[in-house]
Amino acid sequence: MKTKKLKSPFVLVNMAMTADGKIATANRAVSSFTSARDHEHLLALRATTDVVMAGARTVDSASINLGPGPAKFRRQRLKHGLAEYNLRVIVSRSGSVNPRAKVFQHRFSPIIVLTTRRASAARLKRLRALADVVKICGRKEISFNAALRWLREQWRVKRLLCEGGGELNDALFRAGLVDELHLTICPKIFGGRHAPTIAEGRGFRRLAAAKRFRIKSARRIGGELFTVFTRD
Ligand SMILES: NC(=O)c1ccc[n+]([C@@H]2O[C@H](COP(=O)([O-])OP(=O)(O)OC[C@H]3O[C@@H](n4cnc5c(N)ncnc54)[C@H](OP(=O)(O)O)[C@@H]3O)[C@@H](O)[C@H]2O)c1
Repeated sequence: MKTKKLKSPFVLVNMAMTADGKIATANRAVSSFTSARDHEHLLALRATTDVVMAGARTVDSASINLGPGPAKFRRQRLKHGLAEYNLRVIVSRSGSVNPRAKVFQHRFSPIIVLTTRRASAARLKRLRALADVVKICGRKEISFNAALRWLREQWRVKRLLCEGGGELNDALFRAGLVDELHLTICPKIFGGRHAPTIAEGRGFRRLAAAKRFRIKSARRIGGELFTVFTRD
């Protein structure tokens, strides 16, 4: 008998950017620059998903644990039939993620590292000691289609929130996997040619290839603009 193929999880990306489109300063020293309201928004979104995912540089550059936060959000999760604590997924092609990153110091829910055959045996060994699961999802590059299907099938993931950074987002956009983009626009200018944006990496070379989104909502709250884009 044929087994029914499960649908890939619904993918949301949540990012904060300056009015000039930067997600951190060029020297990467500042990446937290939005209001308490925006932080609340981030936790509220986390409370709707099975997974919170981030790239290696985001995990090791910021003091984040990718968890659900205060009890109020954990109660919301339970009310909506989700596990009290979300799964955490870290993406690291070469396994270079810093073992001292804060995320590994919090053991409230499984940590899954998605990596490739580029990761050396020593790095894999180190990661296996830190994470609950280390999943190799490709030879040189991660196949996100396959990785997300694996998360759906093995971990019952229906909704996944990606919190950047720009390089990881770009791979998801290119693979056509992003269903919704939540973007908080903050009235600051960072400038700097090397300051990262919400989609780094290779990008698209032709207008026809650009991923298309529609504005679903835009609300001004305090001094920030909370926008939601949905896949066209
Ligand atoms: N304002 C915001 O909302 C916001 C949100 C998140 C992050 N940030 C900031 O953005 C900066 C980080 O962004 P970033 O673009 O430099 O880094 P990133 O996407 O967080 O991480 C890049 C690393 O993740 C892994 N990775 C990314 N894409 C991959 C892919 N397609 N396949 C396999 N591995 C992949 C690689 O790890 P390996 O090197 O180990 O192979 C790569 O070096 C930081 O300053 C952070 O604080 C800001």
